[in-house]
Amino acid sequence: MNTHIVNISGDLEVHREVLRSFLATLDSELKHLDPAFGLEKIMNSDLVLVALDQDGAIVGLNGTKSTFGIHKSYTVIQERYQRQGLGRRFKEIQGRKAGAAQLLMGVCEKDNHSGINFKFSAGYIPVGTRWGLRYFFKPLSIRGKILLGIIRVLFPALNAFDWITSALRVR
Ligand SMILES: CC(C)(COP(=O)(O)OP(=O)(O)OC[C@H]1O[C@@H](n2cnc3c(N)ncnc32)[C@H](O)[C@@H]1OP(=O)(O)O)[C@@H](O)C(=O)NCCC(=O)NCCS
Repeated sequence: MNTHIVNISGDLEVHREVLRSFLATLDSELKHLDPAFGLEKIMNSDLVLVALDQDGAIVGLNGTKSTFGIHKSYTVIQERYQRQGLGRRFKEIQGRKAGAAQLLMGVCEKDNHSGINFKFSAGYIPVGTRWGLRYFFKPLSIRGKILLGIIRVLFPALNAFDWITSALRVR
């Protein structure tokens, strides 16, 4: 289907109502998304890309929030537009716009097979699972690789900490 991608990051307030309407079209697509996902999360993102159909309606969205050089992103595409390369096109643009980012980060529920395959296909590396979520990273620079090395070391320590605190809570 004929779609094109537009960067609306500079005009989020102008697009508030069309973004709200897009969210209202989603149903099964939200199954694996963070319960905190919604209009305010989009409005607080640093980079927002939307895919538009031939009539100008939003059919997919990719948002990125950056903290300390780590770009955390989310992607959601209307079911009938999935598996047509839109997610891949979003990732390509996101990578080009990443600017000073050292590391891209993505999080998927561990049973979200399409999301997990999508991350692998975009070159993300799985680092670990915490609270039912799989964490993926993609370094964009040498500093990103170093940061990823540190996260890889810290991740098992975090899981050990979770295990100890939950064991203490049971007693
Ligand atoms: C996950 C999602 C963003 C993928 O977007 P998409 O536009 O359908 O993905 P693309 O067509 O660009 O596919 C890119 C690659 O991802 C993988 N992939 C995407 N959907 C897949 C599926 N349903 N099953 C298996 N692999 C899949 C494939 O490797 C695919 O490459 P291929 O088509 O050459 O095999 C989309 O399915 C979606 O919006 N899902 C609901 C929300 C969600 O789960 N978001 C991700 C949270 S981690």
